[in-house]
Amino acid sequence: MIHFKDELKNIKNYVPGKPIEEVKRELGLKGKIIKLASNENPLGISPKAKRVIESSINELHLYPDDTNYYLKKKISEKTGVEEEHIIIGNGSVELINNIVFSFTKRHDNLLRCDPSFILFSISGLMNGCNVINIPTKNFTFDVEEMIRKSEETDAKIIYFDNPNNPMGTMIDEDRVEYFLKKIQNDRIVILDEAYNDYMDIKMRINSARLLRKHKNLAVLRTFSKIYGLAGLRIGYGMANDEIMEVLNKVRLPFNVNLLAQRAALAAIDDAKYLKESKELNDRGIMFLTESLEKMNYTVVKSHTNFITFDTKTDAMEVFKKLEKKGIIVRPIANYGLKSFLRVTTGTDSENRKFIKALREV
Ligand SMILES: Cc1ncc(COP(=O)(O)O)c(C=O)c1O
Repeated sequence: MIHFKDELKNIKNYVPGKPIEEVKRELGLKGKIIKLASNENPLGISPKAKRVIESSINELHLYPDDTNYYLKKKISEKTGVEEEHIIIGNGSVELINNIVFSFTKRHDNLLRCDPSFILFSISGLMNGCNVINIPTKNFTFDVEEMIRKSEETDAKIIYFDNPNNPMGTMIDEDRVEYFLKKIQNDRIVILDEAYNDYMDIKMRINSARLLRKHKNLAVLRTFSKIYGLAGLRIGYGMANDEIMEVLNKVRLPFNVNLLAQRAALAAIDDAKYLKESKELNDRGIMFLTESLEKMNYTVVKSHTNFITFDTKTDAMEVFKKLEKKGIIVRPIANYGLKSFLRVTTGTDSENRKFIKALREV
């Protein structure tokens, strides 16, 4: 038998939202399938990014720019974080994984908000660490308990996503800062801001300011959500010298492909597309929240591009019935929430179809 690492024995594979093709195949469905399962941008790719991709086709025999020079420069302009404090990843999942790989040894304790994006947990287990789950309080990151547990367990890395996936909730800048001040500065704090651009602009956290003050902070962002590039796999991280130096050591050469780099550079500047995406999402969140509340579901207030609600029954059954009607949403039983469903905002008509189908099932 081929030997593999003991750490991998108990790892459950990451379960992504069901792809459209798989649902069509399994259920023999013919018509249009609506996928509201992976928090993607329903408008499709940004027109600017599309043009850049098309015009780059003839250069795909070349390696991409390993330094990601232009994209880092652009992100620096937009965020106020220096270029040398930015790293580009093959999706932000790569960066989560590299941080855990680089800053832990076997049996270290890691803390994560529970529920939160599951990949941190998988990375921790892959690296032989103990991942300690700190339950949310009123569906929100429990700051005090996290501070207490980080001392008690001597945690090496603390992970939380703000806004939180799968709950959609957030804590404000004062709370994040309070938390960072209380955490010893030799513990790494990962603040995952995948849904940052869906937040009300006044509520967004000034991460550049926090990074200047906290050398142990790593902020992660992605181009998979509002920037509409989930299929190209690109995200970025921001942190100070000490963390950055190490992350650059473990980054594989050419980790970010040429199309992803150029498309991200175009999408970040596609103001029209970003505005439309945000407006569509705001409408979707309002419509879905109101409709679900009218149907007497408990809806968690969302600051993202998805809504999580309590079906008060076995959510897997509801999921399967919706699937038969050609609508894919996300059951989140793997986060311990068996009666909850998570639904990404779609186009206006997709949102209406989802509500209609839910009424029927
Ligand atoms: C909180 C959070 N972080 C990271 C990711 C993954 O992002 P990427 O596509 O950049 O790997 C997701 C994806 O759903 C997410 O919800």
